[in-house]
Amino acid sequence: MIDRYIIAEKFFPKAECMRADVDRHFGTPDHSSGDSHQIWDYWHVPGLYTYLRTDPARVLEKALVDEFLWQLQRWATDFLGLSRISRPYLSLYVNGCGQGLHNDAGNGRWGFVYSLTRWEERLFTGGETQIFKDTPYWETRAMSYPAAGQAFYDLIAPRFNQLLVFDDRLIHGVPPLQGTMSPRDGRIVIHGHISEGAVHTNGTLTQSEVDSVLTSAQAYVDSALASHGNPFTGCITVRLTVDATGAVLGAVAMNDRILRTCPNAGDPKQFTTDLMHFLRTLRFPASEGQTLVTAAVRVG
Ligand SMILES: [Fe+2]
Repeated sequence: MIDRYIIAEKFFPKAECMRADVDRHFGTPDHSSGDSHQIWDYWHVPGLYTYLRTDPARVLEKALVDEFLWQLQRWATDFLGLSRISRPYLSLYVNGCGQGLHNDAGNGRWGFVYSLTRWEERLFTGGETQIFKDTPYWETRAMSYPAAGQAFYDLIAPRFNQLLVFDDRLIHGVPPLQGTMSPRDGRIVIHGHISEGAVHTNGTLTQSEVDSVLTSAQAYVDSALASHGNPFTGCITVRLTVDATGAVLGAVAMNDRILRTCPNAGDPKQFTTDLMHFLRTLRFPASEGQTLVTAAVRVG
């Protein structure tokens, strides 16, 4: 199974250009007025969320934002087999801002946090992304001896030009910032969610030819799981290599994050293995040559 979070350093080659836009936006506070600056939504849910957010293209050059999102989509497609990126936010945290513990189940398969924060020069404490461990507490050694803090969670520093993606179902938050009221010195990130898009084909089969086979395969998986009380939940993206006869030559799991819905369910790894076996038995229509198919199988 793929790790619960992934970090990609030095993600976007034009990070400094985006950061320059941030510095320009906040660079003349005594002359900030009009449409270019009356753009920040102060999002405050008592006990849970406190920060400022806006559409990234209100602060950053739109062409840069589009290029960043294109690169993120390509990365997510290549690495996770997921191609849908939600409308992102640009968020700003200064003294007192943070996020209480929550999950984003249903908002996407993975959350992403891309940082434009000058982390190494920061003048505040807090502001990391806090991600709880996903091992059931009673199965960890942390319950056997006095433990605290990072025995239960990881703190991921939002370093400049770093992309963090994490399973949206994980309990996470942002410890409150303490120490600066200056927006240029605060935590500033682009964030949103990644999920499955349409089936992607590269080869001689058409999308509709692939869709009809995969729709029936999904129905088979749904009914098989329902007959066992839906013991698993999550999403697997698969990359299938289909030859000219329509036979599946290979099936590789990419985004494999299947979890049990109850403690006595079977082994998710075995479920994934069985699913790959099943997908190798599919028959697609014959075509002129080979086709690479990337598709998501929803589980539970
Ligand atoms: Fe979140």
